Amino acid sequence: MHGQPMQPLAASFMCSAHKSQLATAITKAVYWSEYKPLLFSQLKVRRAFLKPYFLKPYFLKPYFLKPYLGPIISFIEPGRTAMKLQVNDAIFDVTSDPDTPLLWVIRDELGLTGTKFGCGLAQCGACSVLIDGQITRSCVTPLESVASRKVTTIEAIESDEVGKRVVTAWIKHQVPQCGYCQSGQVMAATALLKETAKPSEADIAAAMINLCRCGTYNAIKAAVNDIAGRGEAQL
Ligand code: FES
Ligand code: FES
Repeated sequence: MHGQPMQPLAASFMCSAHKSQLATAITKAVYWSEYKPLLFSQLKVRRAFLKPYFLKPYFLKPYFLKPYLGPIISFIEPGRTAMKLQVNDAIFDVTSDPDTPLLWVIRDELGLTGTKFGCGLAQCGACSVLIDGQITRSCVTPLESVASRKVTTIEAIESDEVGKRVVTAWIKHQVPQCGYCQSGQVMAATALLKETAKPSEADIAAAMINLCRCGTYNAIKAAVNDIAGRGEAQL
């Protein structure tokens, strides 16, 4: 047709909903293929799943597409562009809608499932992450608001010196019970201790407000006090 820009092939025979689904599926496949081997090796069961090489052709590992993800998504869905998102010192091309809560981008698109969904209302703190070092509830944080900012999730907390001390204290004091809320609790404690190396009891009470159904509040308080230099005898 004269005078009209040529539509990409994919745009010509798919409706917008299907294009969006295809773009999301490709993004998930790329990131999942990258994380899956890591997951298996962490579970120490990877060898049990090893198959002869000829059963694992290269095209079943779509993470080789990762550098080209942005252009691929733009080709499939011309109006949708990949946004650069910095998570745990890596840069990802994410293609969720700009108003998607960060929690779902982290969990569903990037496969980082350590950050949990609790209430979805900024009440419980299970979804807490650090954004530029500040504790933030990712369930109510739109993706577009974190462009060009640094997101840290529980997966990378031990690469932070303070975060590592928090995890060590959590283990020492045997804080987790079911564990569901604990990634958020660790993030909150890390943010507090990065801001105030020796928080007072009042500081701890003000900062550690995440909910825990298992009632680990005393153990959390003991662990943070321990890091702050107040030994168990004074707790
Ligand atoms: S899930 Fe975000 S605060 Fe509860
Ligand atoms: S440890 Fe179970 S909810 Fe906190």
